[in-house]
Amino acid sequence: MQSRLQLVSLSLIVLAGAVTRAAEERIDATVTLHPDQAKTKIAPEMYGQFAEHLGHCIYGGIWVGEESAIPNTRGIRNDVVAALKNIHVPVVRWPGGCFADEYHWKDGIGPRDKRPKMINTHWGGVVEDNSFGTHEFMDFCEQVGCEPYICGNVGSGSVEEMMQWVEYMTSEADSPMANLRRQNGRDTPWKLNYFAVGNESWGCGGNMTPEYYANEFRRYNTFIKNYPTKDDPKRKIYRVAGGPNSFDYNWMEVMMKNVGPKMNGISLHYYTLPTGDWDHSKGSSTEFDEAMYHKTLVNAFKMEELLDKQIAIMDKHDKDQKIGLVVDEWGNWYDVEPGTNKGFLYQQNTLRDALTAAVNLDLFQSHADRISMANIAQMINVLQAMILTDKERMVLTPTYHVFDLYKVHQGSMLVPLEVNTPNYEMDGKSIPAIHATASRGSDGKLNISLVNLDATKSAHVSATMPKGSAVAKARILTADKLNAHNTFDHPDVVKPASFTGAKIDGETLTAELPAKSVVVIEVR
Ligand code: AHR
Repeated sequence: MQSRLQLVSLSLIVLAGAVTRAAEERIDATVTLHPDQAKTKIAPEMYGQFAEHLGHCIYGGIWVGEESAIPNTRGIRNDVVAALKNIHVPVVRWPGGCFADEYHWKDGIGPRDKRPKMINTHWGGVVEDNSFGTHEFMDFCEQVGCEPYICGNVGSGSVEEMMQWVEYMTSEADSPMANLRRQNGRDTPWKLNYFAVGNESWGCGGNMTPEYYANEFRRYNTFIKNYPTKDDPKRKIYRVAGGPNSFDYNWMEVMMKNVGPKMNGISLHYYTLPTGDWDHSKGSSTEFDEAMYHKTLVNAFKMEELLDKQIAIMDKHDKDQKIGLVVDEWGNWYDVEPGTNKGFLYQQNTLRDALTAAVNLDLFQSHADRISMANIAQMINVLQAMILTDKERMVLTPTYHVFDLYKVHQGSMLVPLEVNTPNYEMDGKSIPAIHATASRGSDGKLNISLVNLDATKSAHVSATMPKGSAVAKARILTADKLNAHNTFDHPDVVKPASFTGAKIDGETLTAELPAKSVVVIEVR
């Protein structure tokens, strides 16, 4: 695990009776890297996405239909696919979320005009016409070049239904479900590596107790079969059990004890709310001051405590780290944009989101020995999205750009590090001002990501490098204001630029980071 040393350095100067921050006060931080200890691979799946039948994530965001004037391939938006390919999306979780536990997959196959409709009771009560189903989702994954991660229905579905779905997708035998798939136009089975047995079974997925769900998992999981194929005779599905709601440590304890190695992974969900208040106002996505920004960061950093404590429970029961932690819902959750449907969870995305995304990705990487996947909620038009769409228009968010900057870490070896940094303090709460992560790619290059979270102070960061190192390239994401964001009319307000503030002199790397910025430096 990475660790950090925090130094409190508050120097106030009294000038003419007023207390001001010294103008020259700048953050000085040191990063100590241990390239010789790079032994843990960063699962590319840590950069996964989540796409639910919710608001305009699927309909409008991915699916426009074959007849649409919006350029598409078999009904799937070309602009969105190209943008997702660019950030190397490794895996997409579908069809929910809460929606998964009321989704009946057989309603989403066959001729589209014959598919039964349903009410999406969780998300706006809208009518779901099932035009985007298994074939469309798998086609989308193949177009993007990512893995599908499917969440099955435990809450209102049956064991038989789940068993048949897996057979439908993965069997190449002359079997009823494989033949139904052929009848619907797909001869060869799809590659399905990841399957989840229910979603949030402690809540929208059935309000179960952990003991009850542990038994349900064992039963459903028994009937999720592996269907070997000629090309892949050893093919096995990675089974993900529904894990705890954030800080529910008892749920993790019961699952580890009662299910243990029968699951390959267990999920964890945690959302960052600026106010921390689910019942009244979560906070606006764009209208906030520095104090609310700081509160958002304090709440984002709770992910660290959560990972440490949940993983400690896993370690107690699974010393060999066989079971992966799958953080399959995370991100910032605000009040919806004024005038939009409350059930659609549509929110803007600012520089603040980019900075919290970077912190979360750093934290996931520092727990790379246990985290096998993470999926930000959600990919398009919902919560902390990568992409916003409005009919034919598409805009990339600041969060998208962080995923773009950080894609260099996917599949690389984690370089452990410590950061010696002052704290960023407000209202009696502190967080580290500088945050970092680093990895070494198979090409031998070292990539160092540095985040300056302070809203007003620039930072001087230094690190010792191996002899003969040089900065190959560096990119930065920042903006004038914390609430800077991209709109359909002004899509490039927040976007990465090349960064000239990093250099290596002898064996010392120095980086001059502006306030509120993310920088990724490639060292060769
Ligand atoms: O991402 C939105 C919702 O949040 C998901 O459907 C649910 O799993 C979680 O509570």
